[in-house]
Amino acid sequence: MVPSLSSSDNNGHVSSTPDTCSDNKVVPVSSIAAALAKPDESPYYIGFEKVRVDEYHNVSNPEGIIQLGLSENTLSLDLLKEWLNKNLNESLSQGSSDGLINVDKLAPYQQFDGIMELKKVMARFMSEVLGGGTIEFDPLQVVLTCGANPANEILCNCVADPGDAFLVPAPYYPGFNRDMKIRSTVELIPVPTLSSDNFIVTIEALNIAYDQAKKQGKNVKGLLFANPSNPVGNMFNKETLQNLLNFAKEKNIHIISDEIYAGSRYGDDKFISIAEVVYPESIEKDRVHIVYGLSKDLCIPGFRLGVVYSWNQDVLTASKKLTRFCSVPLPIQQILLSMLSDGKFIQDFMKTNQERLRKRYSIFVEGLEKLGLGYVKGSAGLYCWVNMGRLMSSQDEKGELELWDKLMNIAKISVTPGGACHCTEPGWFRCCFARLSVEDVCLTIERIKRIVESVKPKCCGCQCDRNRAK
Ligand SMILES: Cc1ncc(COP(=O)(O)O)c(C=O)c1O
Repeated sequence: MVPSLSSSDNNGHVSSTPDTCSDNKVVPVSSIAAALAKPDESPYYIGFEKVRVDEYHNVSNPEGIIQLGLSENTLSLDLLKEWLNKNLNESLSQGSSDGLINVDKLAPYQQFDGIMELKKVMARFMSEVLGGGTIEFDPLQVVLTCGANPANEILCNCVADPGDAFLVPAPYYPGFNRDMKIRSTVELIPVPTLSSDNFIVTIEALNIAYDQAKKQGKNVKGLLFANPSNPVGNMFNKETLQNLLNFAKEKNIHIISDEIYAGSRYGDDKFISIAEVVYPESIEKDRVHIVYGLSKDLCIPGFRLGVVYSWNQDVLTASKKLTRFCSVPLPIQQILLSMLSDGKFIQDFMKTNQERLRKRYSIFVEGLEKLGLGYVKGSAGLYCWVNMGRLMSSQDEKGELELWDKLMNIAKISVTPGGACHCTEPGWFRCCFARLSVEDVCLTIERIKRIVESVKPKCCGCQCDRNRAK
């Protein structure tokens, strides 16, 4: 039977009327598309949707949901605005003879993996931010991508085949699931870490996870982590990094170190890049790859600039070819080339931004302390890893999700529950504070207080944590 055609709609589109045809078949889409078309189940993504329809604004929606689930920094947008207003035209007209926008330079095809001038300034910037000015990054090992997520996906494709696995110390950044699993279809194996170890992974836990994976017939190809950690906000010391490298060497697997928060420090600890451990002449370099980007440290996730940095020539060559799917538009490259070349602006920006992060963090944790809530002392990142376990009705996943729901619907704050980050200890929540004004931090604490005050102490009246909730 031929499907009957309905008349065209107002836009002239013609549509069939499926309910009149008994044999009208749904045309199947790929398994990737089918999975993506389903509603998101993770509270991480559900939170975004809830905020999207009811986001707090101090004037237009004061009862709306405060967004603490998104790792974004808006604290220094004023500095960016000032620079862009002064320099945008000049950056886009670089090299033009008439002083107008240099269309001849900006419009044509270019190498998809980025222009060499930008790779050079990016390598210098990485030497400062990741290497503390003492480690050199080579522009020839830089591949530019439109954001750090594509950089992670590219590396995943370069070191693993579909079905292969990565060990990932957990809790980990929920976005890794999308970056690594959607198109590359690799498996991520969370390796549990404990609050008693300050959520730093141990080699023992890695060995157990590796052996278990092997027993299940899985092909472990790499170790993936964010350093500084998202969601915990702590950093690996040199000894831990050396141990991780030794582990990777022993198992003959790769390391992908996502260092996107290296310049968003607010603590006193020094950041140590994996580059420092392989520098200068280690034969282990070939298995080490770094992901970096400007989304966090320069507060410009909308600009989409990420980096694959590798010592492995095959990985570099393949990554460059894969950037045809995720290249950075030339006008953006040109603006960032000018911005990163402005040494004084960058130095002042990084310093001020770190000071602002530090101030926002300290107001936030001061508020938590007043409420008697514990947290991990963070060093970097845009968030605080908070222990709200004592506000839960049961110390399990159900209790955690119930509390998440209460925070969203009663306190009207959106946070990321630890379960969404594969944390094995229930009760931890990631709270991003870098989009909040000082007033909004205070309001957030007030709102959490509503939940704290609603929790009845359950013990005899001693001075334990439960009573401090009163
Ligand atoms: C560890 C980590 N890597 C990558 C990204 C994504 O960065 P981009 O926006 O540059 O793709 C994020 C964003 O939250 C992140 O936390």
